[in-house]
Amino acid sequence: MKPMKLVTCGLPYANGKAHIGHLRTYIPADVYVRYLRMAGEDVIFICGSDSHGTPIVVNAEQQGLEPKQLVDIYHQHFQEVFKALDIEFDFYGRTDSDYHHTRTQEIVNRLIDRGYVYPKEIELAYCPRCERFLPDRYVEGICPYCGAVARGDECDQGCGRHLEPGEIKEPKCKICGSPAEFRKQKHYFFKLTGFKKFLEDYLASLRGTENALNYARQWVRSELKDWCITRNLEWGVKFPGEEELVVYVWVDAPIGYISFTERACERLSKDWKEIWLENKAEIVHFIGLDIVYHHCIFWPAMLKGADYTLPSAVVASGMVKVEGKTFSKSRGYVVWVEDDYLKAGFNTDYLRYYMVNYTSHQKDLNFSWEVFRDKVNNELIATLGNFLYRVMHFAWKNFGTVSMDVDDEVLDKIEETKEKILAALNSWEFKEASDAFMELATYGNVYFQSSKPWELIKSDRSEAEKAVASCLAIARALTIYAYPVLPRTMKKMAEFIGVDAEKARLDDALNVPEKIEVKKPEVPFERVDDDKIQEMEELMMDRIRKAEIKERGEIVEDKPRKGEVSNNTSKTGKDAKADETDYISIEEFQRLDIRVGKVVKAEKISGSKKLLRLEVDVGNEVRQVVAGIAEVYRPEEVEGKTVVILVNMKPAKLMGVESRGMILAADIDGKPILLTPEKGVEPGTKVR
Ligand code: MSP
Ligand code: ZN
Repeated sequence: MKPMKLVTCGLPYANGKAHIGHLRTYIPADVYVRYLRMAGEDVIFICGSDSHGTPIVVNAEQQGLEPKQLVDIYHQHFQEVFKALDIEFDFYGRTDSDYHHTRTQEIVNRLIDRGYVYPKEIELAYCPRCERFLPDRYVEGICPYCGAVARGDECDQGCGRHLEPGEIKEPKCKICGSPAEFRKQKHYFFKLTGFKKFLEDYLASLRGTENALNYARQWVRSELKDWCITRNLEWGVKFPGEEELVVYVWVDAPIGYISFTERACERLSKDWKEIWLENKAEIVHFIGLDIVYHHCIFWPAMLKGADYTLPSAVVASGMVKVEGKTFSKSRGYVVWVEDDYLKAGFNTDYLRYYMVNYTSHQKDLNFSWEVFRDKVNNELIATLGNFLYRVMHFAWKNFGTVSMDVDDEVLDKIEETKEKILAALNSWEFKEASDAFMELATYGNVYFQSSKPWELIKSDRSEAEKAVASCLAIARALTIYAYPVLPRTMKKMAEFIGVDAEKARLDDALNVPEKIEVKKPEVPFERVDDDKIQEMEELMMDRIRKAEIKERGEIVEDKPRKGEVSNNTSKTGKDAKADETDYISIEEFQRLDIRVGKVVKAEKISGSKKLLRLEVDVGNEVRQVVAGIAEVYRPEEVEGKTVVILVNMKPAKLMGVESRGMILAADIDGKPILLTPEKGVEPGTKVR
């Protein structure tokens, strides 16, 4: 017998509404589960709200709510959205439930008992005015690595690094704005470094999408640090034995996969231990590329440490973007599921198809209303909808009941399509699965067109019936094969030809009955209207424009971007971060201290072909700067030159020589050409 499968989806933070970026985890997972079930597999499908973490606490505090009240609102919201889109979990839990706290504490205790957790005194930001420690998002300050404005746990506007508690410079309390101080406090760390060898071996055999696996393997090779797993909060799962501390949200959230399985198993009369303790099931995690680190590094190390079953696959989607930009609520780059899509009244199956069929699951998906319209009108309607309706309507009108004498070639094609779908699922390529049934629809259209039953029927009714039977067999297979992607529409279409798509198996597509009684069909899909699309497009652009104005007009305020935070630089991956740096605000620009300087001395640095050591007069002092200009400039050419220098560049040592500033130059294929003011200017003059 095939082993049982547990499929999970990344738990949405109950901290805001669902946007279509979220759906890239949930729709493909739902499609996958539906296909598996139709292939006869025993699957449990679970998810739930991630209720903890500082963003939720801060957000609730700002709205004058208790965290639980905020979670109630969005927990409800996500469930409604999932229902509307036919995303059907066996159980949808929440991590602020008692059963979840119990399971989390049990696992943390196991880790403690086995010696994987140790206490350590660290210096933490503390607000003397609010009289409290400031974990994660409660604090804002300066990134110690790049100097950008950062929040407590992540340099979200600068270099993107994860910041461990206590690392941030010049901390300020997010709630009252007072400068924070550093105070010593005991926290608990998980010995991640002890899992390096285990992770290397595990990641060598883990299945899933290559994007996730490659990132994870690279991280394990390059850097692993022990991980601070406690926070000063009231909202969360209490750390055993410490009333003041809760576990970090990324410790308890994935444990939701276990605690929700327990609840699901209760309902399904199954034994959760077989899955999580006895290694009798395959565990498959669906997530987005932004949370690979947590699922491929932290989570397996925790499971291993606690002696639980390890996941067999991590399936990570590429990120959804808008206008090529990473989702950002504050910047207006967002499309809301409820307000933009559901309220506009679009067929929910369209979005399922678009999400799955747009591109490879691993690639980024740039949301566009126009592409959405084209995919619906030119593919779903022109190819699939057209075929189903034409064939069913013709069969109903001319025959009513059709004897199913089907062409062997057609049966082969139906079989081949099933094989393609199964292969695609195996490689997590949901686009290929949906392309497979779309190809079958194209084949059906050609078959109908070239066998011309509407002409045959005038001369040879039985030949016409044969052609119709073959087409009907294709239509029947299509309602089954396309059901996981388009459940609503295919369920309805299947009924016209006596198929119960909800109960059908993929193999049933080949078990053609002797006769099919055809009912009068309805048109499966409505065209997406051009005006409506234009309206949606304008709404989206308007939102971006408004956000831009707000951003420029007001002092840069809180920028709540998606979700909680990683313990590494990986939260959004390199290019996912890119858009955040596309624009910088005037405040950010003003943080750059750029001045006119005069080189008073220049000399070669021994052992380096590229570097010169310069002494530069920047007005109030003479600074030592190392500049990579030796391939273009000789020292004597540079001495006396007026240059432009970034004065508050973070000091660095190059070839052992300290550099305090950066000389600006035009870059011609790596060859620097120094910038200099167009008229005589005193050293120290500000550049703006
Ligand atoms: N709460 C964490 C996950 C904890 S899992 C133990 C989280 N929540 S989230 O609300 O930010 O994201 C929920 C799911 O949606 C995750 O799988 C995440 O990867 C996915 N996505 C959220 N925004 C996304 C895009 N813009 N594009 C693609 N997927 C993204 O992360
Ligand atoms: Zn930084």
